[in-house]
Amino acid sequence: MNLLVTGGAGYIGSHFVREALKKGHNVVVFDNLSRGSKESIPAEIEFRQVDLCNKEALQNEIKQFDIDCVVHFAAFAYVGESVESPSLYYNNNVVGSLNLITACVENKIDNFIFSSTCSLYGNPNKVPITESESIKPINPYAFTKYFIEQILVDYSRAYNLKYAALRYFNAAGADPEGDIGEKHDPETHLIPIVLKNALDNSRPFFIFGDDYDTEDGTCIRDYIHIIDLADAHLRAIDYIVDQKKSLILNLGTGNGYSVLEIIRKVEEITGRNLNYKISGRREGDPAILVADNKNANKVLGWQPKFDLTAIISSAWTWHKNPKF
Ligand code: UFG
Repeated sequence: MNLLVTGGAGYIGSHFVREALKKGHNVVVFDNLSRGSKESIPAEIEFRQVDLCNKEALQNEIKQFDIDCVVHFAAFAYVGESVESPSLYYNNNVVGSLNLITACVENKIDNFIFSSTCSLYGNPNKVPITESESIKPINPYAFTKYFIEQILVDYSRAYNLKYAALRYFNAAGADPEGDIGEKHDPETHLIPIVLKNALDNSRPFFIFGDDYDTEDGTCIRDYIHIIDLADAHLRAIDYIVDQKKSLILNLGTGNGYSVLEIIRKVEEITGRNLNYKISGRREGDPAILVADNKNANKVLGWQPKFDLTAIISSAWTWHKNPKF
């Protein structure tokens, strides 16, 4: 198939691009490079530096390709930044996505895969979290993802558009071959922060709260390897194209690990001493987020293959020797 991947220079998008190429898809990447790295895009594929907020440029570029399916990763994804600069988030995420979805409808591109997030469940009523959990975003970032899901629901009813909204839990890990990996600036995610400390522990990192209602008092998350995420996207593309039906699915492993468990696992894998302190809670962090992934298994036949050891080992390979 001919795939248009937005945000293909970012962490999750660039890993997806490689897996899609391995499956034999043709890929074109649109990315404005505001946060992604050009180096993470394979040299042989078509790349256009396009900002989705520039409607005219987007229209001009998209017309030039015969696209079967759009896989839309491009977004800002820092919760804290979204609270401080909501305008940045509503414009980049919602306006950019609306432009893209509109361009799809106008150009008769009927299939759309969307990177959604478990953060739209806010503080869930029940864990593991099913897709029927109530939607209660607690920050602008999560609201942007919720609004885009709603646009897709409404557009798919009115126009000939099929979508898959894939609600990721905590994307982690790196390409096992070590060519690409997680690179955010600033880095706010737990696993890269802990691995960076394994490389240089001259300054401590902080555990954001040890007084949660969990066994060891630290927050529990469901870490899912990005190659497993990419696999689910590829299956979702086949599903919406073949079955002509839309989908909303959680993508997580169903296993939760506390911040302290992650730290212990990093110590075990790296053999290094870590330097950390306990600080207060980070605003907006729910105590436990773990997926019920039964629907993704039932509908797509998808099952995560990478466990926590594989996630952290692959990320460690990258952090010891980042290629860019
Ligand atoms: N944490 C620390 N110290 C740190 C960084 C994180 O203790 O220095 C803790 C957090 O409090 C949280 C856990 O580690 O309990 C995981 O935090 P991350 O920042 O790695 O991930 P989040 O669960 O906050 O983020 C996930 C996705 C984001 C998405 C967010 C929305 O990874 O992309 O959910 O809620 F924006």
